[in-house]
Amino acid sequence: MKKRILFVDDEPNILKGLQRSLRPLRKFWDMVFAEGGDNALKLLEKQSFDVIVTDMRMPGMDGAQLLKIVQDKYPMMVRIVLSGHFDREMIMKSVKSAHQYLSKPCEKQLLITTITRSCSLRDLLNKKALQQLLGGIGTMPSIPSLYARIMEELNSSDASVVSVGEIISEDIGMTAKVLQLVNSSFFGMPKHISNAKEAVILLGIDLVKTLVLGIEVFSKFSKSVLSIISVDKIHDHCVRTAVIVQKIAKLENMDKEKTDNAMIASMLHDLGKLILAEHFQDSYKDVIKMVQQKGIPVFKAEKEIFDVTHAEVGAYLLGLWGLPENIIEGIAFHHNPGKFIGQGFELCGLLHVAELLEHQERQQPGSSQKFNGLDEAYMERLGLLDHIPLWQDYLQRDYNE
Ligand SMILES: [Fe+2]
Ligand SMILES: [Fe+2]
Repeated sequence: MKKRILFVDDEPNILKGLQRSLRPLRKFWDMVFAEGGDNALKLLEKQSFDVIVTDMRMPGMDGAQLLKIVQDKYPMMVRIVLSGHFDREMIMKSVKSAHQYLSKPCEKQLLITTITRSCSLRDLLNKKALQQLLGGIGTMPSIPSLYARIMEELNSSDASVVSVGEIISEDIGMTAKVLQLVNSSFFGMPKHISNAKEAVILLGIDLVKTLVLGIEVFSKFSKSVLSIISVDKIHDHCVRTAVIVQKIAKLENMDKEKTDNAMIASMLHDLGKLILAEHFQDSYKDVIKMVQQKGIPVFKAEKEIFDVTHAEVGAYLLGLWGLPENIIEGIAFHHNPGKFIGQGFELCGLLHVAELLEHQERQQPGSSQKFNGLDEAYMERLGLLDHIPLWQDYLQRDYNE
């Protein structure tokens, strides 16, 4: 079905320019162009749209106000800011209700890709089976508070290693868990780390903040689902996957923001398992039974029993938390990156390989064999298939040092 897209700007010339350059897409998109926020809202009352793309600075109602109303009234719509104001940070802080931010002048291809990607993610998360399953759950876990405080601190102008270390130190239970993790043999630290500040200095703010996020999220589940699956094992798998992701990202020269988001995605990638096991205990026991009897991966058994997988459930929750789209995409497609619409080595691909490497490293330490479950066609298409032995080698050396 054609996607319906509403473009909003106060300048008629900009709208005309968009209309002209996007004309070839009429086969795929129904596009409507509205002058100003009030006109956009009038249109929305009469017709439904899948996506809104709006300017920020407009007389009368500005883009932030418009998107807030759209978020409340039409929560399923994809909300994109296309703004001439280039201070992206400022816009991101002021417009909490946007999914994506683009700055003018925006390359046509980037605009098209952004809209298409957002639509495909939304389609996945709006799937009926997922809505029905999760609609029945009263409350979903909320965004962890200590992590939110760290993020707030990092957004302030005087954030530092010391200030982040201090925030963590205030929480004695958290500090103990962080220290227990970083002093485990897996991290191979050359000396014993005895306080949060030292952990932040030696491991970096990004890794420590990701660890805090994981500890907070996983601790919420520990009692209720313990009888079905091991929360500790899943947590451990996620921590190790995040560290592997960080190393591969470094080898592949990924930028800091992408690496950081990839680590967060890794830390939370199997969270959906816990949500399913907590709320649907009996069915999840059947999942585990099916995995053991048929020898199939967990996500395939979930698909048979729930018609959705933990990847989609986790992505859905993180969408509610308002985490960046690429984190949500990364989690949603971590078992089948080839199905993702993005072209490059995106988070889902990185996460896909890293979690398989983590399984291999745990089950057959030191092995450089090929492993099961890899989407080889996808890795081949990106020209990365022969990078995998190099990554295996690098991780191996690192563990032994
Ligand atoms: Fe996993
Ligand atoms: Fe998974």
